[in-house]
Amino acid sequence: MFDFHKNHKILVNMAIAGFLMLSLLIAVLPASQMQDTEPLPTQTAFTELELEGLKLYIAEGCVACHTQQVRSIAMDNVWGDRPSMPSDYYFSKQRLDVWRQSPSLLGSERTGPDLTNIGKRQPGKDWHLMHLYNPRSVVKESVMPSYSWLFEEKLEDEITDEDVVVPVGSPYFNKPNKKIVATTKALQLLAYLQSLKQPEMPGSSPTFIPQSKKEPVATASTDPNQALLPDGAKLYANVCAACHQANGEGIKGAFPPVAGSPIVTDSNPEMLIKVILMGYDARAEYAQMPPFADQLSDEEIAAIANHERTSWGNNASTLSAEDVKKIRDMVNQQNQ
Ligand code: HEC
Ligand code: HEC
Repeated sequence: MFDFHKNHKILVNMAIAGFLMLSLLIAVLPASQMQDTEPLPTQTAFTELELEGLKLYIAEGCVACHTQQVRSIAMDNVWGDRPSMPSDYYFSKQRLDVWRQSPSLLGSERTGPDLTNIGKRQPGKDWHLMHLYNPRSVVKESVMPSYSWLFEEKLEDEITDEDVVVPVGSPYFNKPNKKIVATTKALQLLAYLQSLKQPEMPGSSPTFIPQSKKEPVATASTDPNQALLPDGAKLYANVCAACHQANGEGIKGAFPPVAGSPIVTDSNPEMLIKVILMGYDARAEYAQMPPFADQLSDEEIAAIANHERTSWGNNASTLSAEDVKKIRDMVNQQNQ
């Protein structure tokens, strides 16, 4: 029995049996388990444009620096509303074409942030296009490479209504009579990034494993409006600062300053709240602001508005969630 190393028949058969068992264990079983996952009812398949964008995401190697997996540990709760599940990948696990397998998008490097929920976190079209053209134009300290070959320079006279002009200004682009225009490829990649949203769970969703250390409790404020609200400074940093910048100064030619803005500091906050709820696209010299009505609660909007009204030298009265609710109801009624 113990001389099988001398019996070549047993030796070969053992090797074959080992090979078959391992193949079953690490290839066939997991693959057949994957076949059984179903998409959530809230999940939609990729459009043609988004699918082309997914192929570009793979071709450009974005996965080298970005993950698309929200782990079930508490430190990942900034990247999604819940941990990722197998069904989240239902549509991206389809074969790309006859020759190419389903792509591996999970990633293992987070040189940049996780992108599972980027379509929800950063809905702005102009922000994404500026960021892809040159990440430094919106995030000064970014180390992400520029993808300027997804864009072309066009003479101002030759720009048609169909062209999507990207509002990058100096020092990132500075040629007289010329503008940056997004190519079809840039628009495909944009569509893919905007489609990256965690699908809502119909029932109760899986939760994060809490950290052993206690989360710091927000310190009570003496302002009665502020005491009951979430941390406006943190919300501003997460939701608004990408465009309006941490210092509230905005970016010339794309995003207006909120520091010293008459809309922000108006004693009547109606316009400010409407801008946040419905988005804003009033002036040609600036890009377009996306609406946040679905993304932010009344409490969160009040907290952000109060942060903007009392920071960077702004000195206006604060408001409560009740004030926001009144204006949200008004806006909803007008839309009916
Ligand atoms: C060399 C690493 C690297 C590569 C490659 C890379 N990125 Fe990034 N990315 C980063 C870093 C670092 C940041 C954070 C700073 C910033 O926002 O620019 C970032 C930020 C982002 C953000 C904003 C995320 C947020 O939460 O605000 C998006 C969207 C993004 N990258 C998309 C892409 C796409 C699409 C590609 C491929 C075309 C790509 N990245 C390739 C490093 C990279
Ligand atoms: C994707 C980029 C983007 C994000 C994110 C964004 N904004 Fe804006 N915001 C804009 C643009 C662009 C305008 C100017 C639109 C115009 O005038 O046509 C604007 C205008 C404003 C104005 C009017 C300022 C003035 O004086 O003209 C306020 C106030 C404002 N935003 C607040 C916010 C708040 C609060 C948030 C976070 C909840 C936010 N924005 C997030 C792009 C953005």
